[in-house]
Amino acid sequence: MPSSTSPLTSKPAWQALVAHHAKLREVTLRELFDQDPGRGERLTLDAAGVYLDYSKNRVTGETIQLLLALAAESGLRERIDAMFRGEKINVSEDRAALHVALRAPRDAAIVVDGHDVVPAVHAVLDRMAAFVDRVRCGDWKGHTGKRIRNVVNIGIGGSDLGPVMAGEALVADRDGSLEFRFVSNVDGADFAGATRDLDPAETLFIVASKTFTTQETMTNAHTARDWLLRGVGVGAGGDSGAVARHFVAVSTNAQRVAAFGIDTAQMFEFWDWVGGRYSLGSAIGLSTMLAIGPARFREMLAGFHEMDEHFRCAPFSHNLPVLMGLLGVWYNNFFGAQTVAVLPYAQNLHRFPAYLQQLAMESNGKRVTRSGDPVGCDTGPVYWGEPGTNGQHSFYQLLHQGTRLVPCDFIVFANSPGSPVAQHDKLVANAFAQAEALAFGRSADELAAAGVSGQQAAHQVCPGNRPSNMLFLDQLTPTALGRLVALYEHLVFTQAAIWQIDAFDQWGVELGKVLAQRILAELDGPAEPPPVHDGSTNALIRRYRTRRGA
Ligand code: F6P
Repeated sequence: MPSSTSPLTSKPAWQALVAHHAKLREVTLRELFDQDPGRGERLTLDAAGVYLDYSKNRVTGETIQLLLALAAESGLRERIDAMFRGEKINVSEDRAALHVALRAPRDAAIVVDGHDVVPAVHAVLDRMAAFVDRVRCGDWKGHTGKRIRNVVNIGIGGSDLGPVMAGEALVADRDGSLEFRFVSNVDGADFAGATRDLDPAETLFIVASKTFTTQETMTNAHTARDWLLRGVGVGAGGDSGAVARHFVAVSTNAQRVAAFGIDTAQMFEFWDWVGGRYSLGSAIGLSTMLAIGPARFREMLAGFHEMDEHFRCAPFSHNLPVLMGLLGVWYNNFFGAQTVAVLPYAQNLHRFPAYLQQLAMESNGKRVTRSGDPVGCDTGPVYWGEPGTNGQHSFYQLLHQGTRLVPCDFIVFANSPGSPVAQHDKLVANAFAQAEALAFGRSADELAAAGVSGQQAAHQVCPGNRPSNMLFLDQLTPTALGRLVALYEHLVFTQAAIWQIDAFDQWGVELGKVLAQRILAELDGPAEPPPVHDGSTNALIRRYRTRRGA
């Protein structure tokens, strides 16, 4: 077998896939189903509580075999084992990527730099649980003695998107006595909007930041402290213990937490081997635990762990994240698809596409391999989506009749206790109908049989042959959410292994941060700054300085 680090496009399996694609690209899903009606039952997987129907993909058995060969030639097995062993697979930052340890059971052992990290993981979970119980039962009081009724999570990126998504997804499991708000944007309108109707004396802030240096989060945390101290009647510059009753931190950076004024006894720790976008199962999930309680939070972690174990142990041919990852590579690299639409038929998953955007695009939006060479092919696709059925009345037109190929992931639940059964039937009928329409379309002949012909028929033909996955789960519980998130985490990992990239760094976001600091000083300064930028940026700075309010 060729070395797993040889250029991807020169691997035998890649070459074979190029040739195979040339044959298969003209074959339609209609033909594939006509030749093999049983594929709808056969091209399915049922594992870790997730049923995947991948039969409506433009694949044959040969395609799957070739994709599996590509996984083998790319060293996917070794990459998975290295991740679970705690090796420093995040090469550009010299770190392990060990989010799987966050969900490992108490009796597991995972060693990083000579230390078993599992006891520390559970120690933090236990501290979180003790704190959460105190807040939820009203024992943890605010500065004026009032019970905490509002929780505001201040964080951005991975310190926001996971908690927001999970908070919404699990709304049915929330403790109704607590109100949850999330502040992320450096735009002051975000903080103002989130706190407008809150009583500071009843509000607890979670400042969530891995680094505790992020501009947006630190700015909002300072705004929150001023708002709180004013609101509970502590004079400017004073504190008298109010911050201690109303602020907790989640971070890896104890020094910075202390410098902000939060006692590190009220800091919930995580570690540099947890990437921000992989941190929902860490203390970053504190707001989620406050919302659903420690027991349900542990169920979510158990759901993650179930999928972790499936990913680690199942043969690749029966491995959900591996198969979905490989199907993604098939469309991305051989059909030239540039995007993936994620379509949850569950209103409470309405922030899931946004969550996946960071997970997939910050991880796999890379242009060089782990060793720094150009990748030589397209890497991470653009993820986007909206919950069904809203998307149907918006962008599905393009999915059905546009000129671009957009592979879709439908996510459907068998039960939705929050919704009357008859209403849930309608939701599910729409999901199944959309997948059917995308795959098989409506031909000119079918239209003619229905009395539509000529120019009108041309407008109404739906060509079909548009691929989709159908993910089918029982119910949107904490366990199911853990399984679903871990499925996508490992799908992203699988693709990174094929593309030979580091999925755990994010250097691309740094340049903008540095430039923003520099421009901020120029916007703020008393004198007109020297024109040190390009002509456009210089002019924009000048214009802003003359137009902005006092
Ligand atoms: O800007 C990107 C990023 O570094 C993300 O990777 C991260 O999730 C986010 O910023 C927030 O970082 P922090 O948790 O350190 O505030």
